[in-house]
Amino acid sequence: MSASGKSLLGLWLYRCGEEWNVKEDCPIPTRPSKQTNGEDHQELERVSITFTLKNQVGSLVRALQAFQDLGVNLLHIESRLSESLNESDILVDVECEPKKLEQIGILLRREVQTMVIVKYKEPDTEFSPPTPLSSATSFDYGEMPWFPRKIFELDNAQHVLMYGSDLDADHPGFKDPVYRKRREQFSQIARNYRYGKPIPRIQYTPDEVKTWGTVFSELHKLYLKHACQEYLENWPELVKFCGYREDNVPQLEDLNIYLKRKTGFQLRPVAGYLSPRDFLAGLAFRVFHCTQYIRHSTDPFYTPEPDCCHELLGHMPLLANPSFAQFSQELGLASLGATDEDVSKLATLYFFTVEFGLCKQNGEMKVYGAGLLSSVAELRYAIGNPEKIYRFDPELTCKQECIITAYQNAYWYTDSFEEAKEKMRTFAEQIQRPFGVRYNPYTQSVEVLSNARKISDLVSELRGDLCIINGALKKIGVNDSSIDLAGLAHYLRTGLNTSASEEKLEQH
Ligand SMILES: [Fe+2]
Repeated sequence: MSASGKSLLGLWLYRCGEEWNVKEDCPIPTRPSKQTNGEDHQELERVSITFTLKNQVGSLVRALQAFQDLGVNLLHIESRLSESLNESDILVDVECEPKKLEQIGILLRREVQTMVIVKYKEPDTEFSPPTPLSSATSFDYGEMPWFPRKIFELDNAQHVLMYGSDLDADHPGFKDPVYRKRREQFSQIARNYRYGKPIPRIQYTPDEVKTWGTVFSELHKLYLKHACQEYLENWPELVKFCGYREDNVPQLEDLNIYLKRKTGFQLRPVAGYLSPRDFLAGLAFRVFHCTQYIRHSTDPFYTPEPDCCHELLGHMPLLANPSFAQFSQELGLASLGATDEDVSKLATLYFFTVEFGLCKQNGEMKVYGAGLLSSVAELRYAIGNPEKIYRFDPELTCKQECIITAYQNAYWYTDSFEEAKEKMRTFAEQIQRPFGVRYNPYTQSVEVLSNARKISDLVSELRGDLCIINGALKKIGVNDSSIDLAGLAHYLRTGLNTSASEEKLEQH
């Protein structure tokens, strides 16, 4: 159930053992007595109603309103995502008169997509609860942390840990009322944002543009020498399509449009530090949470938090790179439903790769981490201290302390993003989760691969892509000797790890 759904139900219900009960001061009238004086007295019937909500904001509220309007007590309620994963199924147990049940049916049909009513015809026998939705055969969260399955559900994964509109006492803008008021405006934008809306454009003040310009010009001098090739190759397009200039702060909406075309990544505004779980969940959908505010003007080269100088200069150029985009998404997918401990490890790996990672190119150490590419001083520090740079090893790296307000004690490098990806994939296999997940870009949803049928369906789908590749190789390979057919075949086999699977099958 969504967070809003939970909070809504929290107004009316409380849990007592295995049962949900109605609060004493709830607006729902209490159960009517069977002993009434009216001639049209009817026996109470116990029924179970299962309905699928419309995919609309507030649909649960409107559906439950039908019960409230008719004074019908809810004995039990629970929810799950429907089979289609687009909507929510709600199961409600009630006890009411047949006449009221008819009225409920009429009211509910206006608000829901489908509805099934199961009656228990022996009103005087003890009520036998229907099979709970949560014991149905389809995938269920159980004790697992909730995670978004559809891209719009990211609206419910916006847990800002710090620096939303409140600043710490040591923040450079803490004593500046104008800056704090401005930050409140940015927080409002992020809080009000919903998936699919255009990101509001910001009219940056001359003071903000000046701060941006100072950071931009100083960092730009360092990029040619120290930034990795993949970072540099997208700069001309960022200048052309997104207004990357010293005298202009690029707008997130322009970058959003650009990134969608390049790698399918999308941006959404965020008020401050998002929880690692929510931030990584966004990456699983190729959604990057991005701040819009700018650091305080008194110290352009220091910020205790990510600001738009960091996001725009550090992250955006690489999110336009397909290989890097995939690496980021795989980190996010690995986090879905993972334990807090595993999410913490993944967040650390994100920190030392996407934020502070380096790579070797043509024998030289280059930088791809956004934290380094948006900090003049730490970029120079990292490059100037090669003894602190170690080869990326997820098992070791995930134990490294992340330092927020000072330089890192260690930095980590790979030869390529592919190497980082391969190592991350191996690491992700250890994550404790009784299923696999895959992002379906056509439906913008995360598919939970929890049984043989789902895996079989996916293999069938992928086979279509493999046939396309096979056909293209046959056509191009004839004339292009640079294509290493044997190498590609080996690459596919190792990707599937078929030999290990075959061995296991033979053992059985
Ligand atoms: Fe960052």
